[in-house]
Amino acid sequence: MNKAKKSGTTSALSEAEVNKRVDALLARMSLEEKVGQLNQVGGAEFAPGPKAEDQIRKGGAGSVLWLNDTKKFNELQKVAVEESPSGIPLLFALDVIHGYRTIFPVPLAMAASWDPNVPEKSQTVAAREARAAGLHWTFGPMLDICRDARWGRIVEGAGEDPFLGAAMAAAQVRGFQGDDLADSERVLACAKHFAGYGYSDAGRDYDPAYISETQLRNTVLPPFKAAVDAGVATFMSAYMDLNDVPASGNRWLLRQVLREEWGFEGFVVSDAFAVGNLVIQGHAKDRRDAALRGLKAGLNMDMSSYTYTENTADLVAKSDLSEAEIEALVRPILALKVRMGLFERPYVDEGLLDQVIARPDHREASRWAAQRSMVLLKNEGGLLPLKKDVKKVAVIGPLADSMQATEGSWMVFGHTPAAVTVLAGIRAKLPNAEVTYASGPEIRRDIPSWFESMMAGQASKPAQTQEESDAAFQAAVETARAADQVIMVLGETDLMAGEAASRASLDLPGRQEELLKAVAALGKPVVLVLLNGRPLSVTWAAENIPAILEAWEPGSEGGNAVADILFGDAIPGGKLPVGFPRKGSHAPLYYARNLTHSPEESPMYNPRYWDGLPTPLYPFGYGLSYTTFAFSDLKVSAAQVKVGSSLTVSVDVTNTGAVAGDEVVQLYIHQKWGTDTRPMRELKGFERITLQPGECKTVTFELGPDELGYWSTNAGKWIQDPASFDLWVGSDSLATLHAEFEVIG
Ligand code: NOJ
Repeated sequence: MNKAKKSGTTSALSEAEVNKRVDALLARMSLEEKVGQLNQVGGAEFAPGPKAEDQIRKGGAGSVLWLNDTKKFNELQKVAVEESPSGIPLLFALDVIHGYRTIFPVPLAMAASWDPNVPEKSQTVAAREARAAGLHWTFGPMLDICRDARWGRIVEGAGEDPFLGAAMAAAQVRGFQGDDLADSERVLACAKHFAGYGYSDAGRDYDPAYISETQLRNTVLPPFKAAVDAGVATFMSAYMDLNDVPASGNRWLLRQVLREEWGFEGFVVSDAFAVGNLVIQGHAKDRRDAALRGLKAGLNMDMSSYTYTENTADLVAKSDLSEAEIEALVRPILALKVRMGLFERPYVDEGLLDQVIARPDHREASRWAAQRSMVLLKNEGGLLPLKKDVKKVAVIGPLADSMQATEGSWMVFGHTPAAVTVLAGIRAKLPNAEVTYASGPEIRRDIPSWFESMMAGQASKPAQTQEESDAAFQAAVETARAADQVIMVLGETDLMAGEAASRASLDLPGRQEELLKAVAALGKPVVLVLLNGRPLSVTWAAENIPAILEAWEPGSEGGNAVADILFGDAIPGGKLPVGFPRKGSHAPLYYARNLTHSPEESPMYNPRYWDGLPTPLYPFGYGLSYTTFAFSDLKVSAAQVKVGSSLTVSVDVTNTGAVAGDEVVQLYIHQKWGTDTRPMRELKGFERITLQPGECKTVTFELGPDELGYWSTNAGKWIQDPASFDLWVGSDSLATLHAEFEVIG
């Protein structure tokens, strides 16, 4: 709806100055070198193609990825600057998803903070460390809206909602990039995967996505648009077919939407090998045709498929493409290098990283982010917070002392996990208590992950035998039996979510639920801490375990943050950024559905499924605190508002409990009729606030054309209907405090 601001251009240099320098560079570059700038070379052993250094020396590389070695960065940069024909510095790129050395909660967890300061500060630290290591560019944030928790990469995004997703997208871009591309403590961000990757059929990774334009415009694209408006420098095209057109050859996405409609001025890199894959996907006839399709679609940089370097000269020679078209694709890459100051400062100080990672505020920021990300799902009888004078605590579960699971999925290459585990965090919190530990049976994927070989310390061990598993099970039960308080730490390992980590079930993997049942049968007070990167259908636990804390994959300080919350040194205030289904087979499940002719659902009469309620186990936006809040005095500034104008909504929120705490005040709307049918609820405002006991704050929201308009299938454009609206404000997507207003023509 809005005209976008210019992306990828925030720097002290004027546009004219940048253009002049880019013109001068292009004037001295051969066609081969221009194509080289469009080529991203893999620095890892598994990467195909000729040796990186040889490509760089002849001017055949614009960027290097899959390398995480400060010394090597300087060596390769020296080859580029001093030995290649035009001396153009390289951009070093890597996936820095939730921290470089200091690891932060995974992005899904950060979204659960419902506090944009969390991703912004976290990615600021990640950028500072990554840049100190010699990196210039991260492949993040991942902005794929996902409503199907089976999809493994849900862990990398902000969950199911476009409004929350857009806020988290902009915050991450600000964190990575700051507001000056020449800032030497920042990196370029990359909005990925454009677009629709989170909608793959049945959550199977890499499978095609079929998404109507209405859903694309209203649900999938808003976080990407928000990234453009926040000035994101680069985009990454997705792997899969979007409505039968691969995203990496999709002119509609890459040219019409991204450049023409949104005014994006940075550059687009493909996902790994995706240009070459246009052949495999049955779109391009051969690799030459794949290069042509990618280039014509406006895909600037080929991530390691070498389709561009192999074919572009021939495409230009035979006039399938002009050199001017190639130059237009090279320009934004050179412009970013100029704006970053790479020509003036191509190298990294090799001693810098050690100083930067020693900063105590980085670890503190990680602990703070983890505390704010955790979601209290259940707290029957106020079992939490636990008392610190407890004598004997048993910490049980396969993830309780796992650094990998604590730091979570997708570390940078070669990273050695160094997390405070939940066990270590609890031991540190309770120096005078006896804290015992048993892991219980191991958990593992049925089919191993390709990424296992790339992660430090994750070499495959042989699977436990049945006898070993039984012995571990019994040991865990006995450890629990001997304690006064049991803390179970269950969930998924880091490699159970992420790329190529989709699953058909959302149950606790392995024998974890069986163990939970056996421990619960002992009659001790049990707290369940979940470590996982996706919603899990913990239905039995929800009905039988008194206290459940969703800790996600909380990062380097995760165990301390869990202990802070369990023992009352921090108050949980996160909320679910995605609903938890009762069963994996209920996916995709999301709150912003349309009404149907049969909206009622009850255990007695449920038209959706006859074998159980289809409603979420825990709804979107849900989360408890150690205190309680009351919402009152909901006011809408006008009963009627004209199309194009705004109104204000205000509500009083009071802390009605005995301790200070945070509430996320959420506003949902429903347009009752119109050109198209609209979802029965849509998030259109939120604010996380802190209230002292008895304190009351008035929270206000603006609702204007951006919130009240939508992309209409019937009209084929953005519209705002004159219609009546419901509005709810409260603590989750089931909020009941209600008002109405009308939009008039
Ligand atoms: C493939 C993944 O889909 C993408 O997210 C990542 O950035 C690239 N590989 C580069 O590692």
